[in-house]
Amino acid sequence: MDLGIKDKVAFVTASSKGLGKAVASQLSKEGAKVVICARNKEHLARTRDEIIYRTGGVVKIIPADVTNNEQITKAINEIVQEFGTLDILVCNAGGPPAGMFEDFAIDDYRKALELNLLSTVTLCYEVIPHMKKQHWGRIINITSVSVKQPIDNLILSNTSRTGVIGFSKSLSNQVAKYGITVNAVCPGYTKTQRVENLAKAFEESGEGSIEDFYRNIESTIPMGRLGSPKEFAYAVAFLASEGAGYITGTALQVDGGFVKGLF
Ligand SMILES: NC(=O)c1ccc[n+]([C@@H]2O[C@H](COP(=O)([O-])OP(=O)(O)OC[C@H]3O[C@@H](n4cnc5c(N)ncnc54)[C@H](OP(=O)(O)O)[C@@H]3O)[C@@H](O)[C@H]2O)c1
Repeated sequence: MDLGIKDKVAFVTASSKGLGKAVASQLSKEGAKVVICARNKEHLARTRDEIIYRTGGVVKIIPADVTNNEQITKAINEIVQEFGTLDILVCNAGGPPAGMFEDFAIDDYRKALELNLLSTVTLCYEVIPHMKKQHWGRIINITSVSVKQPIDNLILSNTSRTGVIGFSKSLSNQVAKYGITVNAVCPGYTKTQRVENLAKAFEESGEGSIEDFYRNIESTIPMGRLGSPKEFAYAVAFLASEGAGYITGTALQVDGGFVKGLF
């Protein structure tokens, strides 16, 4: 299936590893010119080289922290100067720390909102004028299954990410007339470095082995396994495609059936 995004310009944030990297790689495979960002420049350069080796595509790196507004503005300006526009925006960021209500103070909520919600809003402010001009745009916000089924020890993530869903849906209604779609994709447990680190931390805390960690998680997923970053990336790439032009305002989980509710 041709996604119709050859030579489109895509900016995938937080993309030197994990889900962001898989999405950038998939978009590059589909022929898009891809810009990736993360804070660590060395990891970013390594990821760029890896994607180019695999796809032979155009991949640019911009070291940037998505919580820093100036760096985001500078990044978008640099992209538009080099490529002339920006067609596809995938908003990703790190996750806030795990913990329960009594583990955190109000400042922790501010930081979580900066990381997940306000970075998304800032990115949208910067790219929408360019998308409006060309009457075409795809915005995909990466959240988590926790927006559909809160996860007990992730109160910061449960809180900040549902804001992204409210924002995405509101924005989708307002920019649809400019040919811009806005959707959220909600990963379930997906085997990335982040989850591998969580497994190691679980073992180090004496709660059980790494195998126990994965067994516990797998028992909550009807598919009986974690997802792969590639499976997640396919869903994002489809939402970025020409053919997905009538899909907007949705929040699609990619979770092997983890969410138990109807929607
Ligand atoms: N994997 C899962 O099972 C899962 C499930 C639900 C939700 N999620 C969420 O999906 C997102 C991606 O998860 P992942 O598993 O792919 O994580 P990961 O493997 O840890 O990768 C995170 C990526 O984000 C970059 N990053 C982190 N903070 C950043 C910032 N402030 N500015 C720019 N780049 C930043 C990291 O690079 P630098 O550190 O160099 O900046 C890295 O490239 C996270 O928000 C996570 O909570 C993941």
